[in-house]
Amino acid sequence: MIDSADIRFIMVFPKIPIDGEFSFQDLPGSGKRIDVLCRSLAACFDWCPTMGLPIKMELVAVLSDMVLLTFTTCTDCIGKGETWWAKIIQSTLKDQNPPDFVNMSLSSLEDYLSMISAEGDQIFVLDEAGESVGSFGRERSSQYSFMLGNHEGFDGNTREVIRKFKLPSVSLGNTSFLGSQCIAMIISRFERRQR
Ligand SMILES: C[S@@+](CC[C@H](N)C(=O)[O-])C[C@H]1O[C@@H](n2cnc3c(N)ncnc32)[C@H](O)[C@@H]1O
Repeated sequence: MIDSADIRFIMVFPKIPIDGEFSFQDLPGSGKRIDVLCRSLAACFDWCPTMGLPIKMELVAVLSDMVLLTFTTCTDCIGKGETWWAKIIQSTLKDQNPPDFVNMSLSSLEDYLSMISAEGDQIFVLDEAGESVGSFGRERSSQYSFMLGNHEGFDGNTREVIRKFKLPSVSLGNTSFLGSQCIAMIISRFERRQR
């Protein structure tokens, strides 16, 4: 039983432009599917599923295996929608007054995973073909991290890193869900544990 769970989602986006050059009128095309990240941020923070619960959440987006955008829970994020998130991402990438709930740093996925595993994180890969998610959480940990692919799943470099770290895969069932749906499902599992 997890007493006070902290949840982190790690999303890998090999193609999103790291210079912040994309149009709000065409997020999927000009942003190379940045809409997937915006929708996932909305699922994590905007739909406010954990309001009133002691769950601290974080979403880390790894862009081009080089830039990390780390988003944390904030009350300002509620009910804003995908384009609002795209504006936050753009101002952060362009270093134009980013808000304090987002941080930009430089790291590869591999270096980042090395760091959080050294800190004792339990890292799971969300994968349709993995072990049923019902069995995770037996290990006591204060920090659970879940890695998700984008609309195309994981690229070759990410799959290699996953193999290197021998990360266990967990499945939410046979259906291929959107990343944002997976996030909402994981949060609601933790929510039920808290109640
Ligand atoms: C839209 S899906 C990717 C679909 C892509 N065509 C593929 O084959 O991986 C985005 C991500 O959500 C996660 N995901 C989707 N369905 C899942 C499931 N049933 N169980 C666990 N994770 C899932 C995976 O991490 C996946 O990379």
